[in-house]
Amino acid sequence: MTDTPTPAARAADLRARLEDANQRYHVLDEPDITDAEYDRLMRELEALEAAHPELADPASPTRRVGAAPSRAFDEVRHAIPMLSLGNAFADEEVADFVARIEERLDLRAPVFSVEPKFDGLAISLRYEDGVFVRGATRGDGATGEDVTVNLRVVRAVPLRLRGEGVPRVLEVRGEVYMPRAAFEAYNARAREHGGKVLANPRNGAAGSLRQLDPAVTASRPLAFYAYALGVVEGGDLPATHSATLVRLRDWGFPVSPLVSTARGVEGCLDYYRSIGAQRDALPFDIDGVVYKLDDLAGQRELGFVGRTPRWAIAHKFPAQEQTTRLVAIDINIGRTGAATPIARLEPVQVGGVVVTNATLHNADQIARLDVRVGDTVIVRRAGDVIPEVVRVVDEARVADAPVWQMPANCPICSSELVREEGEVVWRCSGELVCPAQRKEAVIHFASRRAMDIEGLGGRLIEDLCDLGFVASVADLYKLTVEDFVEMRRQADARDGTTPETVKAGKVATKWAENLVEAIEASRAATLERFLFALGIEHVGESTAKALATWFGSLERVRRMPWPLLTLVPDIGGEVAHSIGHFFEQDGNQAVIDGLLARGVRIGDEHGVSAKFAAALEVAGALAAIGIPKLTAKRAEQLAAAFAADAIADAPEHQLVTAGLPADTAAAFVAWRAEPAHARLLDDTLGALAALRADLDASGAAVASLPLDGKTFVLTGTLASLTRDAAKARLEALGAKVAGSVSKKTSVVVAGTEAGSKLDKAQELGVEIWDEDRLVALFAEHA
Ligand code: IVH
Repeated sequence: MTDTPTPAARAADLRARLEDANQRYHVLDEPDITDAEYDRLMRELEALEAAHPELADPASPTRRVGAAPSRAFDEVRHAIPMLSLGNAFADEEVADFVARIEERLDLRAPVFSVEPKFDGLAISLRYEDGVFVRGATRGDGATGEDVTVNLRVVRAVPLRLRGEGVPRVLEVRGEVYMPRAAFEAYNARAREHGGKVLANPRNGAAGSLRQLDPAVTASRPLAFYAYALGVVEGGDLPATHSATLVRLRDWGFPVSPLVSTARGVEGCLDYYRSIGAQRDALPFDIDGVVYKLDDLAGQRELGFVGRTPRWAIAHKFPAQEQTTRLVAIDINIGRTGAATPIARLEPVQVGGVVVTNATLHNADQIARLDVRVGDTVIVRRAGDVIPEVVRVVDEARVADAPVWQMPANCPICSSELVREEGEVVWRCSGELVCPAQRKEAVIHFASRRAMDIEGLGGRLIEDLCDLGFVASVADLYKLTVEDFVEMRRQADARDGTTPETVKAGKVATKWAENLVEAIEASRAATLERFLFALGIEHVGESTAKALATWFGSLERVRRMPWPLLTLVPDIGGEVAHSIGHFFEQDGNQAVIDGLLARGVRIGDEHGVSAKFAAALEVAGALAAIGIPKLTAKRAEQLAAAFAADAIADAPEHQLVTAGLPADTAAAFVAWRAEPAHARLLDDTLGALAALRADLDASGAAVASLPLDGKTFVLTGTLASLTRDAAKARLEALGAKVAGSVSKKTSVVVAGTEAGSKLDKAQELGVEIWDEDRLVALFAEHA
């Protein structure tokens, strides 16, 4: 059991915590506790000081409004202090507030100006003869910071006032804030580029205004609403606050359209509920509403008590930020395989909703915040934005809590999680097997440009996956008419729709028969389509085509160590890695085996291309691996000095003797000492040697395709096949298919109603074929 501290010790503790929080909030723009927590501590201290007058201290945080300004800006003394508002949380507190006013002024149900309580940064703007001359932050209420240069770049701040009757000197007070959308966009960019993330829009506004470089302020979209006056000289003003706000709007100040008037407690509470209902949908954060006695004479009569006016009060909403404990960090795998870390939280009310999960965005964000399991964290929820962890409360860190690390494997399918260089997002590489990604994988696989399974669309695939008929793309090829009918029956039962099978008997079967036929027809695929259909990240149609032409067979592609993939000019390191990772997953390989076992046949396999045979050099492969310091030139030296199978074991002194500089040799040996690197080196050189041996044994296997180097142009309508199909066949035979005719065109194929391309071909004397000739060519090479 812990000892209860003495009141003096507790007061000292509370003052230290509050002072520290003040310093972080006002001077550093890096708050570490929530407003709600701050309010709670302040209330506790106020209560403690009230109960123990002997603890009174003129320097207590209860005696002042904020913290001292930072030294970077000039100080501005506020001729009329910028004070703060008392808070009400419960309806009764509002009733008490109104009752006190009614009693003191002896009136019933007075009118209030009712306004949102904007969650930004209070500022004061001074105008002389209608011209903006100085802007200041609130600071500690008595003295603020001169941020004139920064406020000048805020578009919502008028530089010159318009309209009639502008006083000679006019000080307008209001709130600078950052709209939520701007805040989200700013953070999304920061997360992508590893920059500093803003904890909330209020910090965004405060931080932006306190930039020493106004250009930085200008780059942050800030907004402003006016809600009060300071010094006014040489001008007449209306008798009510609400009329003053109308006047301010006339002079060019933004005034929130949500500002209104209300009568008595009921009017105020109605307003509170109405704004509360709109809160999540508003484009900016608010933390409550403010009720201000509308009659300015009444305001003067009531005056102030301590640092707050008797004529106004803030009625707070449930806090949008709360403190809670993080009990675990799980990984959520999205439909594209993106791995998002999710914080599992001890349930906590945030903005009126119980929150148990919050996003941590990505691994970089966790590292930046240094979030660890067991930490006490601040959670923020605003609008429809997913709740997020914005900060760790450092002092609550559990001793020895380990630094969090991204797990190596997908929590759903156990495939490796990978991250590409320069990317923020980690992804599950089990595209074909990961249930989280399966639907997307199947939809892509069946799509027109992939395996082109007619009639098998997104909705149907979702049902097939959801109802357990399809766990991977390979399962498509075991589906029967009965399966489809049964699947539809279950889907109808689930959705509460009248079963089609009951309604229309045969029709439903016909539909299923058509699907089974379409699936059957897709069994015969080209290598290019098949590779594209696998949905490997970064492998679009053109990369799939390059892989097909260069390597010629699925077996070769699926076993190729990634460094050898980079020998294809169109395939860079990033793409090669992505392909390599895909095929390294046992699950993905098993799905491919399943597809082949269920009768998927690739009809156009051939030997490796002559270009690949020529590029298949040890030096190039070594250089592609990206070994530190091993430039293309050094790789050549190595390849020239050693047999391929000796490179992995060559002792350092021999490397130096072979001409490598000492540091290059040392770097190579150090790199090679890592088992994963040694394996990559072995695999790459081993695969290379095997390919070479193959080529030497059967030189004929090298494909020089029949239409290598030829360019075809298709024009007009073809009767026996689609233009896409003709194009695909021609390309499979090695031709390039271009869109327009030039001197370089080898053949123009003219269907019926061929137009200007045919004319152009005749003009340039390009060879012209009709459809029969094309079909004959295809038959010859079938
Ligand atoms: S009136 C003497 N009206 O709340 C009262 N303040 O705790 C002067 N605030 O620092 C303030 N919206 O930053 C007023 N509609 C509003 C407000 C508002 C937000 C903030 C302001 C001030 C704090 C007072």
